[in-house]
Amino acid sequence: MQPQNKQKIEDQMSTSSFPISPDFEAARARVAADPEAFWAEAAEAIHWEKRWDTVFDDSNAPLSRWFTGAEVNTCYNCLDRHVDAGRGDQDALIYESPVTGKTEHFTYEALLARVAKVAGGLVELGVGKGDRVIIYMPMVPEAIIAMLACARIGAVHSVVFGGFASNELATRINDAEPKAILSASCGIEPGRVVEYKPLLDEAIELATAKPDHCVILQRPEAEASMIEGRDLDWVAFEDAEEPTGCVTVAATDPLYIIYTSGTTGEPKGIVRDNGGHLVALSWSMQNIYGVAPGEVFWAASDVGWVVGHSYICYGPLLHGCTGILFEGKPVGTPDAATYWRIIERHGVTTMFTAPTALRAIKQQDPDGELVKQFDLSAFRVLYVAGERGDPDTIAWSEQVLGVPIIDHWWQTETGWPINANCAGLGLYPVKHGSPGKTVPGFDVHVVDEGAQQVGPNETGAIVVKLPLPPGCLPTLWGHDDAYIEKYLTDYPGYYKTGDAGFIDEDGYLFVMSRTDDIINVAGHRLSTGAIEEVLASHIDIAEVAVFGVADKLKGQVPLGLAVLKAGVNRDPSEITTEMVQMVREQIGPVAAFKTAGIAARLPKTRSGKILRGTMQKIADGEAYAIPATIDDVDILDEIETTVQPLGYGNGPGPLAPKGSGGAA
Ligand code: COA
Ligand code: AMP
Repeated sequence: MQPQNKQKIEDQMSTSSFPISPDFEAARARVAADPEAFWAEAAEAIHWEKRWDTVFDDSNAPLSRWFTGAEVNTCYNCLDRHVDAGRGDQDALIYESPVTGKTEHFTYEALLARVAKVAGGLVELGVGKGDRVIIYMPMVPEAIIAMLACARIGAVHSVVFGGFASNELATRINDAEPKAILSASCGIEPGRVVEYKPLLDEAIELATAKPDHCVILQRPEAEASMIEGRDLDWVAFEDAEEPTGCVTVAATDPLYIIYTSGTTGEPKGIVRDNGGHLVALSWSMQNIYGVAPGEVFWAASDVGWVVGHSYICYGPLLHGCTGILFEGKPVGTPDAATYWRIIERHGVTTMFTAPTALRAIKQQDPDGELVKQFDLSAFRVLYVAGERGDPDTIAWSEQVLGVPIIDHWWQTETGWPINANCAGLGLYPVKHGSPGKTVPGFDVHVVDEGAQQVGPNETGAIVVKLPLPPGCLPTLWGHDDAYIEKYLTDYPGYYKTGDAGFIDEDGYLFVMSRTDDIINVAGHRLSTGAIEEVLASHIDIAEVAVFGVADKLKGQVPLGLAVLKAGVNRDPSEITTEMVQMVREQIGPVAAFKTAGIAARLPKTRSGKILRGTMQKIADGEAYAIPATIDDVDILDEIETTVQPLGYGNGPGPLAPKGSGGAA
């Protein structure tokens, strides 16, 4: 980092207008000594209709809950409270849509008025407390309005990312059983309009659970055809209805369900409660991101991801900030300066994006020339997450932006950061490649297979000692057993993150890989198992393996190798084209599955387990140990010659001489 910029952040941290919380280590010590007192104090930032009976309730362990007995409304805390306190004229949300050329401002008062009407509309449709509503929308203000409207009436929303295809949407409809679905006629991707309505209609057709109604926002870029009796036009729906007030819910009632990739094709419905979520987000806005009410905070993500839930919608509003809803890409909408333009235009102080976005910008503006054209003097910190912040990208961003670039690590399950350098508690030195030390409230360890802690710098499974702090998943929707089995069983007393890595001698965590089949594609979490499930249904395919390979822009992309059924004589390129098409149609374009190959056979252990990790190393051109469990090492050569024409696999090859039976 340039010294003058380091000074800049230090100066900002010490001004009286900047919310300084107690020092980071002191906060960690306080929460470790008395978590209930710590979180009860943090809960004072929330408006409760009724205060809790118990701060932390472990009476039904391991299904523990925060703030039992309390009653609250999330929407009230995000909107009404601020209007009542005189913040009504402040921008709550700025919609920046370079893909449509629009910028729109919504004050707290204006946003509240629209949310209250949509909430009224939902009530008219018979949606009430506890009912589910699916929101399948692009990055338009109505998506945020829809989320808050559900929160207002105690309905449970489930936002589905627009880049998923009908099949994925249908799976979520079946699991959530929504009474209503809120959607739009289309999303806008660079160079193409993605019609959502045909995807929605197909998903409802595929699903066994059927919503009573769909409310469709007609966008000028595409007109959706409506199904009479079921579909309603958004504008008429919102105009017709009376505003409605907030419905009080239990702190432990679900606010939303967000589906995320698991180790199979079945996505997991992560549940978020109301009370713990409010407390955790409010605490994080002030203490992690270090923003003050009234400041402009921008998370450049999508409402379909957890980042969008926590830090586009709920976090900034809860904290009285101005948030930004960005409908565009870091490059090409219209150029690689779009982030800097928006930061300047609205005086953004703190931003959040994914490293892949910075790589895309770096690719187009390697010397950061575009950055220099903008006044970024209000800008203090850039947080990144969604995948490991690779040291090159972090160093480049520090240099061109001149503000701290903070990698922080979290998951859909936790809803807020587990490890982070906390601007609100005083930044400590950054180590490139690490998301820093553990945030107060989490207790992170690295353990071996027997759940024993390993020493500094030793790699193992990353786990969090129970209990998890407020805001993290209390369970999976409708599947308490699966929650216990998937997260709490392998390492008794700990929550399994599914990540692997190490903690160094200074307490910095390094998250290096997953322990399951999850890959991170452009900051999007995908299950290779789910892609395999789709491909396995191809009529000519006998077996298939999908694994993540390194990609300069997206971090990782999926690569599929298929073995054909005996007697199939078709042109292999036809089959690989069909494979790509199948994944696009059944999972969605977001899977970025563009490369497939045909192999004569796949390497397996003696027990029949496909060696995806070894194939990944071959494809990445990394040195690899020949697994001791493999009998016929020639298969590895065959894989190398299969992946080379696909543009992979020119690296150093095996570590041990073939046939030596080296370690796996
Ligand atoms: N609706 C429909 N399609 C969508 C979509 C949506 N909401 N979002 C993405 N897609 C499509 C894209 O059009 C693309 O389709 P294509 O294969 O026809 O080109 C595909 O899904 C992959 O999209 P994306 O991952 O956005 O890749 P990209 O090549 O268009 O752009 C980046 C690359 C790096 C610019 C982009 O991935 C990016 O901005 N990533 C940041 C992600 C992020 O913020 N994650 C949040 C975690 S913090
Ligand atoms: P998601 O649930 O989509 O937010 O994805 C969570 C997963 O993304 C984590 O379990 C990690 O595998 C990965 N991830 C997110 N942030 C980081 C980070 N800062 N460093 C390394 N991996 C990360």
